[in-house]
Amino acid sequence: MRVLVTTDLPGDDWRRLLAAAGCHPDVRPSPAVPDEDRLVALIGDRCDAAIGQLTEPWTARVLEALRAAGGRALATYAVGFNNIDLAAATRLGIPVGTTPGVLTEATAELAVALTLAAARHLVPADRYTRDGRFTAWRPDLFLGTLLHQRTLGLVGPGRIGTAYARALVAGHHMHLVYHGRSRKPELEAEIAALSRHFTRHRQPPVSCRFAPDLDDLLAAADVVALHTPLTPETRHLVDARRLALMKPDAILVNTSRGPVVDEAALVTHLQAHPAFRAALDVYEHEPELAAGLAALPNTVLLPHLGSATHWSRQSMAAIAARNVAACLQQLPAWTGDDILPFLSATPPAAAPSIVNAAQLGLPTLP
Ligand code: DGY
Repeated sequence: MRVLVTTDLPGDDWRRLLAAAGCHPDVRPSPAVPDEDRLVALIGDRCDAAIGQLTEPWTARVLEALRAAGGRALATYAVGFNNIDLAAATRLGIPVGTTPGVLTEATAELAVALTLAAARHLVPADRYTRDGRFTAWRPDLFLGTLLHQRTLGLVGPGRIGTAYARALVAGHHMHLVYHGRSRKPELEAEIAALSRHFTRHRQPPVSCRFAPDLDDLLAAADVVALHTPLTPETRHLVDARRLALMKPDAILVNTSRGPVVDEAALVTHLQAHPAFRAALDVYEHEPELAAGLAALPNTVLLPHLGSATHWSRQSMAAIAARNVAACLQQLPAWTGDDILPFLSATPPAAAPSIVNAAQLGLPTLP
């Protein structure tokens, strides 16, 4: 079976997994991002499945081409799938696989790194040192924000957001305000237990509260971290009006998807408020940056590195391969929360993460 792989993937496990399922990976050598026409051409006349990237437009037209070529599965090498027309895939009977659970800590750690970098001016301070301008210790050199006991605003308390908040609450004693579709009693209980532990050890307590109103969170937080998927509801969730609600010296961290922030409005806000900082891993028109963004000293800008650790990227490849192989072998869709068993030598006989399994009426396991 021919499996189109639109760009080469890290590690070798994924190749072995596909081969063991009777699949031949047809790996496109070019790293250039294919557009719609190019994807249709790559799919060609015969394509049993595809492993694609978050940068590619898996539109209805492309999915129709995949179906017409005999395609029975699409695995995206990402946890986010906003670039895929899921309704079209479902209508065409194509299961769509994603790679959750193996990039949670990697992305959370990167968000922590961005937060600390923005709080303590790491990027300009590094440049200052390299440029030979560090000629004497000074009491006022690069004064930053102390995170300890300040307020963290978490938007999107999913797996990654929770791991990020846990690191800053446990490690830096930050108070947590979170906003999402619903309350997270387990998260609240975990932080209450942590606070009791801190108090017993004569350390300052931490608090946690749910903010049903995002505006309330934005006004209260010293750091606002976005961990929400991109949907029609979250596009431009942070716009000019909401930026104006934030503290003038707040830090905005975005490792989710660029269009969650109105980037032009962010540039205007950063220009008007030099003490406000933005630490971004993702961009509204990625890989383009909004005009003026790169020139701003109050930003930390990374090239979408959230999951970029060796382990995560190799594991993502293995999960994508398992999604494809399992769909082609007509195995059920996994409904367990834990994806890690799929990296073991005796994985469940299932597709690890099919986001439209319920809509397609696929059999499930367990
Ligand atoms: C994802 O998986 O959606 C990230 O943005 C890239 O790893």
